[in-house]
Amino acid sequence: MTQNTTSRRRFLQNSALAASALALRSIPLSSQSTEVDAHIDIMPEEPIGTISPEIYSHFIEQLGGVIYDGVWVGEKSKIANQGGIRSSFIEMMRAVQAPVLRWPGGCFADSYDWRDGLGARDKRPARAGFWDQQDSNHYGLHEFMRTCRLIGCKPYLAANVRTQPARDFYQEIEYCNAPAGDLPSNSAAPPQPDALAALRATNGDREPFNVDLWGVGNESWGCGGNMTAEEYAAAFRRYTAWVPSYGKDPLRFVAVGPNGDDVEWTTRLFKSLYENPERRHLWGLSIHYYTSGSAARFADGDALKFNDGEYYDLLTRGSLMEKIVKDHWSAMGNLPGTSKGPGQPQVKLVVDEWGAWYGTGTALAPEYNLSQQSTMRDALLTGITFDIFHRHADKVAVAAVAQSVNCIHSLMLAQGDRAALTPTFHVFKMYLPHRGAQAVRAEFTAPPIPNPLGDTPIQVGGNSYIGELAPVKTLAGLSGSASIATQGRGKLLTLTVVNPHLTKPIMAEIGTRGAKISAATGSVLSSHDIHDHNDFEHPDNVKPTTAVVGTPSLGRLRHSFPPGSVTSLQLTLI
Ligand code: AHR
Repeated sequence: MTQNTTSRRRFLQNSALAASALALRSIPLSSQSTEVDAHIDIMPEEPIGTISPEIYSHFIEQLGGVIYDGVWVGEKSKIANQGGIRSSFIEMMRAVQAPVLRWPGGCFADSYDWRDGLGARDKRPARAGFWDQQDSNHYGLHEFMRTCRLIGCKPYLAANVRTQPARDFYQEIEYCNAPAGDLPSNSAAPPQPDALAALRATNGDREPFNVDLWGVGNESWGCGGNMTAEEYAAAFRRYTAWVPSYGKDPLRFVAVGPNGDDVEWTTRLFKSLYENPERRHLWGLSIHYYTSGSAARFADGDALKFNDGEYYDLLTRGSLMEKIVKDHWSAMGNLPGTSKGPGQPQVKLVVDEWGAWYGTGTALAPEYNLSQQSTMRDALLTGITFDIFHRHADKVAVAAVAQSVNCIHSLMLAQGDRAALTPTFHVFKMYLPHRGAQAVRAEFTAPPIPNPLGDTPIQVGGNSYIGELAPVKTLAGLSGSASIATQGRGKLLTLTVVNPHLTKPIMAEIGTRGAKISAATGSVLSSHDIHDHNDFEHPDNVKPTTAVVGTPSLGRLRHSFPPGSVTSLQLTLI
């Protein structure tokens, strides 16, 4: 697109916006008109893309108390389980309709031998895992696949590209996906099953697992081998070249992408990958972005003890996810050979690790490495993050929260026979109506909030790469996203909104261009104190309530968003 057309489009958009803003204000409003602090202007005729249900995916790793206790309690446990898998974990994942589950890591995957987790459990080798904790290997590939079946989700396997050769990756795919039964023979020998499919059947699963989503390594710039982008590009080509897909659909290979906003990694990786026309189709580029609890250091700050400044600062830095998505989309799209059409790079973004990562202060116990509490602050970060993914529904195809239970940005805490759902869990549920709906453009006009720590350069990364962005001085005063789904003969619009202000309710006037709002319902997650959270003793301290929604007037709705809240509204359009 030329500069002129860009400018012209901007001009048209701006004129339309100005006209709409005038229209909004010219409508006679009730006696409360002076109370309106913000406007939400939704454009149902401006689609962004279908919201992939897979942006609501999950990640579990052999780390701390994630697998051992969080997911796997063993068949003989007194804790309610289904074939050794914690029942309350299965219920939680079903409640949020988890579409995809990523395993076994994370950094753990970078030294994991998938064969260690096969066969009789008491014969499996115990090994020192990446996280300095011995792994009994009682939870292996078959247990993971059973977990996915019980939840009703798809598996996403991260392969070990650091310590295993390409042959093991090839054979892991064969073990998972080769068909059951005899294969036609190309010699005089009688037909017989594929050797790895036969081993899979011996280990309890005759039918193939049909895994289509494969992470080719994990953080290869760090714990995955400290590679350069060029070294990883060569590894990616070698690991994926000529791998049979067995099933009808091509496998979805996900390349290791940047840590945070490391655009240089992506640019060099794509340059190197696309220099060689002999390459397997690259389906997705992984992004890992953790929001840290302290502007000064990665994985710092306290999950429970934070002041107002630290609160606003964390949400400001979490909002940088939008910049990261846009930066990497354009880094991919600007390279020759990567586009399907003008401005439409075919490789999708897979944000397969995200969340707020704090210091060690609130771990369930020392051996529950990286476990932390989750407060209302984390619920707001969850809403902000999903709203960003919706606003970029054309770019983000998969995203996995890190990690589902007993870890960084968890939906659930579980220890022995006790369990509690976090505020983040509730946001996952409240955002369900967005899945598979058409994301549409929406303008939020509200006074921004100054970031009291806005003078500190912002770290976007962690572990081996620490990038810094210029300080970000403000946080959006109100943010959110809108999507439309067909409901019978009508249309249902879902609007999710985060009000990060700690003390101020925001009264917003909501309008839809070219349509009228005829009815509205909703739910809201808010609390008296932003530090509020759920724990084993108080599992229902924080939970959503029905939003008090007024009657639309002249096709528009006024709604008051409470301080420190996440709201999901369902608007019927006529
Ligand atoms: O989620 C915890 C760790 O964070 C993962 O193992 C790794 O990929 C990332 O650095």
